[in-house]
Amino acid sequence: MDKTTLANLRNNYTLNELLENNVSTNPIIQFSVWFKDALNAELVEANAMVLSTIKDAKPSARVVLLKGFDEDGFVFFTNYNSHKGLELKGNNAACLTFFWDKLERQVRIEGMIEKVSTEDSDLYFWSRPRESQIGAWVSEQSAVIEGREMLNEKLAYYQQKFENEEIIPRPQHWGGYVLKPQSMEFWQGRPNRLHDRLLYTHENDSWKIERLSP
Ligand SMILES: Cc1cc2nc3c(=O)[nH]c(=O)nc-3n(C[C@H](O)[C@H](O)[C@H](O)COP(=O)(O)O)c2cc1C
Repeated sequence: MDKTTLANLRNNYTLNELLENNVSTNPIIQFSVWFKDALNAELVEANAMVLSTIKDAKPSARVVLLKGFDEDGFVFFTNYNSHKGLELKGNNAACLTFFWDKLERQVRIEGMIEKVSTEDSDLYFWSRPRESQIGAWVSEQSAVIEGREMLNEKLAYYQQKFENEEIIPRPQHWGGYVLKPQSMEFWQGRPNRLHDRLLYTHENDSWKIERLSP
């Protein structure tokens, strides 16, 4: 693609607005309103979010799926020995970013991450399809591997190993994390690049709301 075509790619956002007197004073409630809108908009992966972590003082980011949220925070599941897992062990400050293109909306959530309880990890693990449960045993996520063949061999090994097991145990290295938000920013695209941005910051057990310049 030539440079000019790319430089001229832009949309004017006109769908909606975000006003102080129309939002909830609680950002988790506000998120649930926007998340419902995202589900209703039938986006391909409304619960996909970029998880940013810190690796030796450098940023590191990838997409994961949101699997639950409430006043305690935002939950996702992964391999605790993956790059992100090791990075979170070294520094548990992290950021989640949602982009809902059809709605012209972005949400950024910053906070600290902890592992969820083993009970919650078990519950979610067992709610997954059996093939995905076996997949968690097969993949040493983020390790360098020689080729796909090795994954197929491991898959065959674990399929046989668990053939007669009604319940597949959850691998210790697989489970959930929860990000407890310290700040949440809601962004609504507006005409002429004068977007609405409302930032909630957690202070003294309550949430302060400020408007940021676009
Ligand atoms: C749409 C989408 C959803 C994903 N969901 C997850 C997820 O929920 N958990 C996960 O561990 N990886 C998920 N991945 C894969 C991650 O982006 C990433 O490749 C993997 O977790 C390894 O990351 P790491 O090496 O930084 O640990 C997803 C990728 C995409 C594109």
